[in-house]
Amino acid sequence: MGTLTPLRPGTVTLVAGGPGDPGLMTVAGRAAVEQADVLLVDHLAPQGALAWARPDAEVLDVAKLPRGRTTPQERINELLVTHARAGRRVVRLKGGDGFVFGRGMEEVLACAEAGVPTRVLPGVSSAVAVPALAGIPVTHRGIVHGFSVVSGHVPPGHPTCTLDYAALAATGTTLVVLMGVANLSCIAAELLAHGLSPETPAAVIARGGHPDQVVRTACLARIADVAAGLAPPAVTVIGDVARFAVPTPATELVEETR
Ligand SMILES: C[S@@+](CC[C@H](N)C(=O)[O-])C[C@H]1O[C@@H](n2cnc3c(N)ncnc32)[C@H](O)[C@@H]1O
Repeated sequence: MGTLTPLRPGTVTLVAGGPGDPGLMTVAGRAAVEQADVLLVDHLAPQGALAWARPDAEVLDVAKLPRGRTTPQERINELLVTHARAGRRVVRLKGGDGFVFGRGMEEVLACAEAGVPTRVLPGVSSAVAVPALAGIPVTHRGIVHGFSVVSGHVPPGHPTCTLDYAALAATGTTLVVLMGVANLSCIAAELLAHGLSPETPAAVIARGGHPDQVVRTACLARIADVAAGLAPPAVTVIGDVARFAVPTPATELVEETR
């Protein structure tokens, strides 16, 4: 089954929405949105993509706002299954790629348990796209041969934090931190304590790909101060490639590189 195969009634399709600009969605993702009978939409999904939905399509806002209104995951799973069992073509529109800190697999498993067929349309994750929209390549020949993507939603040392910050400080790869802007000072301090140089370039990109994208840069020792006050969504890049950061609106970068 190709990614452009028409959606079947009674199925759920997970669509990667990319970082916010609908122009960064895949062709297959757009085709799925156009066919959907019902769409369940996250707050970081590209709201502009809803203009492609059929006028009679039902759009359900199932946002999980950090420290705000939230739709429990169990409720989202239940809605996916209920609508699919009613014979509808269900599209689950997510921000970025649903399999990168996106709970996509939880939804696939919930549907599988209920006997509902699913299809996953992968796409553009903010982990790579948001740095790129700020001019930062996560790898660059001769500088860095890899990148590590981690979640900073809990600070280092928190009982539920599973990250090994000593290993991250020593990895020699670009570090890309999602969901970490609120914990940035603890994260930077922990990396410094484990030997990462205070002079390491760093950048924080908030609302990447949106007209109000903000890029702040500093060395690791100062990045938390420089980025203070930035609100999510934001991606932090730590490593030599962060020195390529360009504080240019994303739309201009996209146009220039076409
Ligand atoms: C729950 S995670 C979901 C990630 C998503 N599945 C992906 O692949 O991009 C949400 C985090 O992604 C990052 N993010 C998503 N969209 C972003 C954007 N447009 N600008 C900056 N960061 C973004 C932020 O770190 C945000 O807190």
